[in-house]
Amino acid sequence: MTPHSAGNDRDRCPVGKDLEFDPLQPETFDSSHEVYERFRSECPVAHSEQFGGFWALFKYQDVVDMASDHTTFTTTVQNVVPKISFTGRRPPLHFDPPEHKYYRRPLGGPLRSAQTSKLEGDMRSYARDLIAELRGKNSFDFATDFALPFAAHGFSRLLSLPDELVLRVRKLSVAYNFEVQAMNHVEVRRLSLELYDVAREIVEGRKAEPLDSNADMVSGLLAACEAEVDPITEEMVVASIRQMLVAAMAAPHAVMSSAAVHLARDAQLHKRLREHTELIPAAVEEFLRLYSPYRVFSRTPVEDVVIGGREITEGEPIAMIFPSANRDADVFDDPHEFKLDRMPNQHIAFGVGVHTCPAAFFARMELRIAIEELVRGIEEFSLAGEVEMMNWLEFGPVSVPVRSTTRESA
Ligand code: HEM
Repeated sequence: MTPHSAGNDRDRCPVGKDLEFDPLQPETFDSSHEVYERFRSECPVAHSEQFGGFWALFKYQDVVDMASDHTTFTTTVQNVVPKISFTGRRPPLHFDPPEHKYYRRPLGGPLRSAQTSKLEGDMRSYARDLIAELRGKNSFDFATDFALPFAAHGFSRLLSLPDELVLRVRKLSVAYNFEVQAMNHVEVRRLSLELYDVAREIVEGRKAEPLDSNADMVSGLLAACEAEVDPITEEMVVASIRQMLVAAMAAPHAVMSSAAVHLARDAQLHKRLREHTELIPAAVEEFLRLYSPYRVFSRTPVEDVVIGGREITEGEPIAMIFPSANRDADVFDDPHEFKLDRMPNQHIAFGVGVHTCPAAFFARMELRIAIEELVRGIEEFSLAGEVEMMNWLEFGPVSVPVRSTTRESA
């Protein structure tokens, strides 16, 4: 990417046709990928008039280059498209280095593999109980009956919170995401403030009863605030937890549900994973690549730039379309195929650069447990109705109706 001084050149796509991108097109489970393929080959840096106007990057290398360059592309203006925030910046996502590291550092201890691995036993037994309930039924909805409660339970263990509170938070954040997409300012503000209230309650509770700051993210942030080595304020601790409330459950919920759709359509793969559970970590990477659950994060250039031959003016929002980048044929052979032997699998579902997901180890463990228990407990299942998709911000189903042929005794 190079700086430029000329005027805006958005009317000419140097690669092919000029295509206007519409993020609000209704979608099925597969349709977005057809759209993204067309943009990758015909207009890989596209403009959209939606949400007040923004640019969208569809190619892997463009996304990697932008996410790696936090000097030219800031997250302090907005981190998603559309920008619709009234309640201030939330660390660590909405901060650039060096401030970013003040908030990121205290998350490192509680999210390291040695720490989060301790949750595996509890999460597995919870998954087993959920699957045991589903085994007795001929039909169920994988997204609402398994993925949602399991993702909520995982987060409740990670933050030492009651499951009921976390389920309420997930409902709030789904409603919040839909209102953001609809750009309904009044509702976005109301829901955001409600999420802030929950975050404040959690922080107050932890101040009253602190946990080990190496094991608990809230206590870690509070300890950093008290140590006064870095300029962290208590209000920013609340804002960090507020950010996590929305970030932590959406992606596992979405990608687990997508994996279930994939397995429902591919009985051979289901059987293979059931017989060879050692293949499940590789399967998790392919599910993350094929169905990258965070569809979009954005950056704002602090100077005029040229990306893929298109001139973009300082201050114009640019969206990175992760599910598109992860199916780019320039990087992945047979990009739409599920390949257990894809080596190396360089998908970027967890992001790139300073904002790379700090919870990637935990999320991978969570997905591995979910798939292991699903294929172990439910011998066979197929789709029993329409897969209903979430929205522009999250790629994945909110409803996966399935029919199971697993007998109680199997
Ligand atoms: C399948 C699961 C997950 C996926 C695919 C995922 C993906 C991502 C991505 C792509 C980013 C980078 C955003 C950007 O560059 O703008 C990110 C950041 C982040 N994620 Fe995750 N995430 C997952 C689960 C989680 C969980 C369970 C947590 C809970 C702790 C979490 C907490 C965060 C935080 C705090 C950030 C901001 C990091 C920073 O700004 O330095 N994520 N995640």
